[in-house]
Amino acid sequence: MEKMLENYELSGSELEIITYPDPVLTTVASEVEEFNEDLKELCKNMLYTMYHAPGIGLAGPQIGIGKRIFVLDVDFAREETSEDSGEFVLSDFNPKIFINPKIIKTEGQTTYQEGCLSLPGIYEDVKRFEKVEVEYQDTDGNMHTVEAEELFAICIQHENDHLDGKVFIDRLSNLKKTFFKKKLIKAKKQEG
Ligand code: NI
Repeated sequence: MEKMLENYELSGSELEIITYPDPVLTTVASEVEEFNEDLKELCKNMLYTMYHAPGIGLAGPQIGIGKRIFVLDVDFAREETSEDSGEFVLSDFNPKIFINPKIIKTEGQTTYQEGCLSLPGIYEDVKRFEKVEVEYQDTDGNMHTVEAEELFAICIQHENDHLDGKVFIDRLSNLKKTFFKKKLIKAKKQEG
């Protein structure tokens, strides 16, 4: 993985981001079995889409692909070229790709205000594990293990939930969950 992402340059195609309540977001994704060029291309385009959005993570279901893949980068910088120019320069890329991830160890608890590209306009505190250990494959199918903490750990848990058909509002109280689901359904209807 590290090799492929060395000297990462922002390139690729922008994919359409699926918003709630599309059924692909509430369906459990299936394992990736083929590690080929198409998979590499897909991951590259997912990263491109994520940076462009901008977001710090993007999972397969969010672009309509029901496969156990997510990409993330909790380190990149985004700076406006000049005040209110609406133009941004991205730098310090640290893209990571997780294929068939499994959270194998968890520790502690933390709360962080999360948002999601598939749930536009909603930002809420979510309880997560403070540290996680994850087993995953790279785009060549090689196995890796990583220990994550802070935002990296939170992002992994958020993205991993997408692969299990869960969005972050599913982690809130029933009252809040129902409220935001109704709000999103209404917003989507108005969109047409
Ligand atoms: Ni999300």
